[in-house]
Amino acid sequence: MEQNILIIGGNGLVGKTISRILKSRNPHLTVFIGGRKGGKTDKDLRIDVTDPSSFKVISDKKINLIILSVNDKEDHVLRFAIDHQIDYLDITKPTPALVKAYDMAAQSDVNSRVVFSSGWMGGIVPGLVNTLSGSNDIEEVKVFVYYSVKDLAGESSAHFMAENVAVPFNHYQDDKPVSVRHFLNTETYNFYFGIGERSAYNFDVPDLYILNKVERIPGVSVKMTYNSKFITWLLGAFQYLRIYHILSLKERKMIFGSSGNGDQAVFEIVVKDKTGQKKLSLRSMKGQAELTALSAVLHTEELLRNPHENNVYFSHQLHEPLSLMSQLHAYDSININITQ
Ligand SMILES: NC(=O)c1ccc[n+]([C@@H]2O[C@H](COP(=O)([O-])OP(=O)(O)OC[C@H]3O[C@@H](n4cnc5c(N)ncnc54)[C@H](OP(=O)(O)O)[C@@H]3O)[C@@H](O)[C@H]2O)c1
Repeated sequence: MEQNILIIGGNGLVGKTISRILKSRNPHLTVFIGGRKGGKTDKDLRIDVTDPSSFKVISDKKINLIILSVNDKEDHVLRFAIDHQIDYLDITKPTPALVKAYDMAAQSDVNSRVVFSSGWMGGIVPGLVNTLSGSNDIEEVKVFVYYSVKDLAGESSAHFMAENVAVPFNHYQDDKPVSVRHFLNTETYNFYFGIGERSAYNFDVPDLYILNKVERIPGVSVKMTYNSKFITWLLGAFQYLRIYHILSLKERKMIFGSSGNGDQAVFEIVVKDKTGQKKLSLRSMKGQAELTALSAVLHTEELLRNPHENNVYFSHQLHEPLSLMSQLHAYDSININITQ
């Protein structure tokens, strides 16, 4: 069967990387790129997610799967995909937007595969959690993120942090939501891969919601640290002194808008169950965009390869956990270490 795949936001940092990895592993696929500017080839489509009248070309080109790699706050693309029975994979949504979109999809008559893949690094964390323990037995999951300001970062990712830094969010203790704010509640954590001991601070990613509400894990927290200890401390001090509330969105974008030339990205998952504690450490030598894009490609390949029913999914629900881990492990710039 012919497979036409459209990456909206495909000219961006992550979208371009998805396109590169997807085409190199699956040369038989036809990959279209959607963006506001269009482009020179017949594979470049002029699509603006804020303007549904620009979506007609999606039907004209007989797209089978849309990968969304740019913020679509009004869920126009999701609505279009559901109405036109097109498979849909979304890596973009911060927690509140994800909950809204998931509810909308769950209440719709869905005749395609709708996959939310917005968790940290393209929605692979819950799948990896399930490689460490049976989800029914897990008492607590802690995720620790090491983020380098030297890594490449697209403009849209920076906007996400600027828009959300002052917004409280929930982590979970004893199955109850606890309201917290970014960059507060320090916890000292010893990172693998030679990084060493760091102060890590509250960080909102959709995995908090997914691990508690979907995987039913009673205790879930996510903390992050920057490669620069000074920046980590400074961002916490800004939150403590409520400076983000005073700054305009433009000023907050200036704080979070920097992009380096590329660096490693690391996260670690600590799972506590009745038998004790297990830890999985994952490093992407080529940074966050490469790993996010690879995850999106693995979800896409899974949708193409196996007969998943028409339904609404979180991306980890597509995979056998150990198969997901071994596919990540097989990628040359990814290292995984597990300790008990
Ligand atoms: N789940 C995760 O782990 C994860 C990780 C990283 C990033 N992300 C998300 O992935 C998305 C892309 O991030 P990025 O770093 O690649 O950002 P980016 O470099 O800014 O790319 C976004 C692209 O979207 C296009 N675009 C902007 N507005 C548009 C519109 N109204 N309609 C259609 N296209 C539009 C732009 O190209 P044109 O100028 O051609 O329109 C731009 O190249 C963001 O939503 C980010 O939050 C998720």
